[in-house]
Amino acid sequence: MATKADKRSASYRQIESGTERAKPILHQNAREIQPYGKIAKLPIALDEKVCAASAENLNQVLADTMTLRDLYKKHHWQVAGHTFYQLHLLFDKHHDEQDELVDVIAERIQLLGAISLAMAADIAETTIIPRPPRGREEVPVQLSRLLEAHEIILKEARTMAAQADEAEDDGTNDLLVSNVIRSNELQVWFLAEHLVDVPVVHADNAKAAASGR
Ligand SMILES: [Fe+2]
Repeated sequence: MATKADKRSASYRQIESGTERAKPILHQNAREIQPYGKIAKLPIALDEKVCAASAENLNQVLADTMTLRDLYKKHHWQVAGHTFYQLHLLFDKHHDEQDELVDVIAERIQLLGAISLAMAADIAETTIIPRPPRGREEVPVQLSRLLEAHEIILKEARTMAAQADEAEDDGTNDLLVSNVIRSNELQVWFLAEHLVDVPVVHADNAKAAASGR
């Protein structure tokens, strides 16, 4: 007959084995299920070569869009001067819009059967947008830097949209035109108007207008 002590040790053994099963299994490793650069074709009625070419282009736009997104956050934090409040808000709005683009671009790469870039180190190696200094810059420099980054993206997006159109990859063409190009063009307008040198209080020609000359 089992003693009280036997019963107690049996229940401890149960607790221990129960705890063992509930523990998360950590430090796991295995081979990748898909190496970067290889296509895992989905049934989307597009040739694998077309998918690969579009994905390569989109990964470039993705890296540049992630860089521009981060540039906006840097300037959102570091902006200074009497336009601080409006630019602080505008930079964050554009950051959020670029972040939405990042997700749309990355998910199209995945549905093309390819792998989207994701990590900062890979983005830094891939982007063609010049790296800014770590320190703070004046507002006109921040704005110029952002405008140059936008134009790099717009230039490559137009070329890539034409290539996607040629390859009959309508989804990629539409994403580049409707999302990337249109969003970037609109943001350029909002930035560029800050660099028009117009007076804030006294109009330049106020005296001349008053004297009728
Ligand atoms: Fe913030």
